[in-house]
Amino acid sequence: MSDDAPKYSFETLQIHAGAQPDPTTGARQTPIYQNTGYVFRDADHAAALFNLQEVGFIYSRLTNPTVSVLQERVATLEGGVGATACSSGHAAQILALLPLMGPGDNIVVSTRLYGGTVTQFSQTIKRFGWEAKFVDFDDRGAVSRACTKKTKAIFCEAIANPGGHVTDLPAIAKIAERKGVPLIVDNTTATPYLCRPFEHGAHIVVHSTTKYLSGNGTSMGGIVVDSGTFDWSASDKFPSLSQPEPAYHGLKFHETFGPLAYTLHGHAIGLRDLGPCQSPQNAFQTLLGIETLSLRMERHCENALKIATWLENDERIESVSYAGLKSSPVFRRARKLCPKGASGLFTFKVKGGYEACRKLVEEVNIFSHVANLGDTRSLIIHSASTTHRQLSPEQQEAAGAGPDVVRVSIGLENADDLIADLDQGLTAALT
Ligand SMILES: Cc1ncc(COP(=O)(O)O)c(C=O)c1O
Repeated sequence: MSDDAPKYSFETLQIHAGAQPDPTTGARQTPIYQNTGYVFRDADHAAALFNLQEVGFIYSRLTNPTVSVLQERVATLEGGVGATACSSGHAAQILALLPLMGPGDNIVVSTRLYGGTVTQFSQTIKRFGWEAKFVDFDDRGAVSRACTKKTKAIFCEAIANPGGHVTDLPAIAKIAERKGVPLIVDNTTATPYLCRPFEHGAHIVVHSTTKYLSGNGTSMGGIVVDSGTFDWSASDKFPSLSQPEPAYHGLKFHETFGPLAYTLHGHAIGLRDLGPCQSPQNAFQTLLGIETLSLRMERHCENALKIATWLENDERIESVSYAGLKSSPVFRRARKLCPKGASGLFTFKVKGGYEACRKLVEEVNIFSHVANLGDTRSLIIHSASTTHRQLSPEQQEAAGAGPDVVRVSIGLENADDLIADLDQGLTAALT
């Protein structure tokens, strides 16, 4: 697709954005460039690439032609100016923060996050001298009060894993604007087909591409997408972007690259020095997945709504947390921010509590007992004893992953077959 192409719709862009027929062979599908180094034309060309004066390939830790198509595709689908693909969703979160943070700085983050992210933010980032302040993002006053002079970003998930709670992105974006910091949104569960955080005021989006974007449970990956709208030079908060950067011979990223500053920093410093690059094989698999994203998300949402509705009416179930249900406290918000559906992920409470939940995950047949989401296959897990195990009971409750909660990622199978499977599983678990 050429750069001056007219504005195409999501369904067209998910197949074409960033890709051209291979100029050498004419291959129509993006090839897997299983390659590390790239031959320079001459010494001047090499120097220009290292000086970031010319765009091109140097070494696959920085970028690779297959990975580069993935970056352009996801940036286009999110409505951003650039993207940095990396090895996992967790790597994306660290890469997203690196240009912003220094020792002593903090981020204000939602309590409703994937359990691994809660641990990464509450424990591991302390080793960099960074701190995360956990706040209920439905309490705007608390979010605002948590921000200090040392706050460098606000972070949340658009649709939170596991409880499917939808964050009020426009309200949180307003707080971020007032505080002069970027709003970073993890859009893994929603995907850009269901929600486009930049349209609601977010500045940066991160994904675990491991989930719905790759879609088949084959490939780990992450990506950081920049909207290009944040003014890094408006204050002295972001010296790595607005001041001479010693890690790149004094380059002033924002002054030199304007809206592309954050993305180029992600490649030139983040990937170069931390090294979590995405493999070309995984980028290829993820590109294949993205080609059918809209179709899959429609079916994930349709199946999830049907199954959540059935569960809600079953007497063995205490409650269902799914933003697509009219009974959800965030139903209206979900309709506004994710008008095409509330994704395929949700939780429910089983009346038999902790033991019944553990039995249910063993008794189902079609559902796989797996710590993943966004697969074509339906997946089930008891979060409190697995993905959210490292959290305190209070943190588990706040994240929507209490002891009597089961999380399901509804796949693309026949919804009636899935209901029958849950029905027999619940019967077995409760007798
Ligand atoms: C919402 C969300 N963000 C981030 C991650 C981390 O992604 P990865 O497992 O690719 O590192 C996950 C993983 O489950 C997730 O569900």
